[in-house]
Amino acid sequence: MNLVAGSSDFERGQYEALKSAYRLFGHGDLMKFWLFEEHRCIYKWAHYFPIYEKWFEAYRGKEIVFVEVGVQNGGSIQMWHDYFGKDAKIVGIDIIPVCKQFEDPEQNIFVEIGSQDDPNFWAAFKEKYPRVDILLDDGGHQFNQQILTFREMFPHIKDGGLYMCEDCHTSYAYSMRCGTCEPIILNGGVGVKGTFIEFTKNLIDEINAFHTNGTLPPNYNTLNMGGIHFYDSVVVVEKKKIPFKPFDLPVGDFAKVNAEA
Ligand SMILES: C[S@@+](CC[C@H](N)C(=O)[O-])C[C@H]1O[C@@H](n2cnc3c(N)ncnc32)[C@H](O)[C@@H]1O
Repeated sequence: MNLVAGSSDFERGQYEALKSAYRLFGHGDLMKFWLFEEHRCIYKWAHYFPIYEKWFEAYRGKEIVFVEVGVQNGGSIQMWHDYFGKDAKIVGIDIIPVCKQFEDPEQNIFVEIGSQDDPNFWAAFKEKYPRVDILLDDGGHQFNQQILTFREMFPHIKDGGLYMCEDCHTSYAYSMRCGTCEPIILNGGVGVKGTFIEFTKNLIDEINAFHTNGTLPPNYNTLNMGGIHFYDSVVVVEKKKIPFKPFDLPVGDFAKVNAEA
């Protein structure tokens, strides 16, 4: 059991934070796994758990391919395996070669080493994994990485699948720390061009392209996004073919609202 108060101030603080997380968000199996099961370290924001549950529930027990960018200590790929079940292929991606140790083909868990910055990596990845149902980006968190990963992988997601990017708050950050490394300067902020959040705001125009009177011709995203959902630090895009131009029709009896009495 992970939820134990330690002896240092830090550990006691962490224990209190986890108790609050459980009170607020602890109604699903993922949170229960995170807090109470034995596993390698899983580094997540607590408020992501209800978002995961809402979107991933429908895929449980199915033969899906779930990809997570960002393996780190290998705990989250254990959690996804536990949650989705033995028929789901879980594929973790990380730039750090030692993460390969967490691969466990007998459990249907695979780890690929490479950089999400690198289009050649993605080309080889897509060849090796021709089917991906869900991609969760929890990798380097720099917005250029998040954008490149979306551009490379959204078209590769199976119709009916999901694309989720977390830690999108880096779009607002001046800098970011990753573990013990020196801070990475991001120069993000509200409305700053080039951030992942600004990129996703453009997706809102793209999903509405049919209504822009030609200003924005419908593109691949217009024809393949079923919905875009924004949460604190998380963006979810549903992959869904839009088979024809949207239309509206009056159906049913007309109430004579405009007729003279
Ligand atoms: C936040 S951690 C992942 C945490 C893990 N998913 C969990 O829930 O415990 C981010 C990981 O992304 C990896 N990473 C950083 N830059 C990357 C890149 N360019 N390509 C792939 N992985 C990267 C880091 O090595 C690190 O292990």
